[in-house]
Amino acid sequence: MRVAVLVSGGGSNLAALIDAHRRGELSGAQFAVVISSRPDVYALERAQSADIPTAVISRKEHSAESFDAQLLEQLDGAKADLVVLAGFLSVLGPLVLGRYMGRIINVHPSLIPSFCGPGMYGLRVHQAALDKGVKITGATVHMVNEIVDGGEILLQKAVDVLPRDTAQTLQKRVMEQAEWVLLPRAVGMICRKELPIRRGI
Ligand code: GRF
Repeated sequence: MRVAVLVSGGGSNLAALIDAHRRGELSGAQFAVVISSRPDVYALERAQSADIPTAVISRKEHSAESFDAQLLEQLDGAKADLVVLAGFLSVLGPLVLGRYMGRIINVHPSLIPSFCGPGMYGLRVHQAALDKGVKITGATVHMVNEIVDGGEILLQKAVDVLPRDTAQTLQKRVMEQAEWVLLPRAVGMICRKELPIRRGI
């Protein structure tokens, strides 16, 4: 299973995947490419340290159409079987979705359908959870379709919200307790065919 990982930032979710692979938990998976929508992000260094090929397609420097076309070219070139969005902050376009839908997963830092959808990323998700006063939040791994955070839910894990939490402390706990656990687990389950994805083009 050739896995393409899409990133936009620090790459801590990518690191969790690389670590799980090293522990032998992603049997049959091979990281084909790491593609970043931003230049100069630490995720690229993490990929290079793990000898994974990298590519940068700067979202800022492309129109939505051109970004979509370039991403499709990279994914096709890498012969990706599975596309993993790991802290990827750009919305996928119709070309990539048309070719890869059913084989794209994302990790979102809340229990969908709460605190998700357009504009809900990063600290905003956790601030919204705090503003609402929920006592439990978490993370969700889901299939990606044309609705932002709207695809089929694959895995979820709950995390406690604590009385003195800030968006920052909550984000950290959700990453450590849920995102970094769930995303490798989902990829491992897909490799073992315990979670179905659409195969082939
Ligand atoms: C965090 O905002 C996390 O909640 C979200 O992606 C970001 C982490 O990015 N899902 P990264 O994996 O460290 O690049």
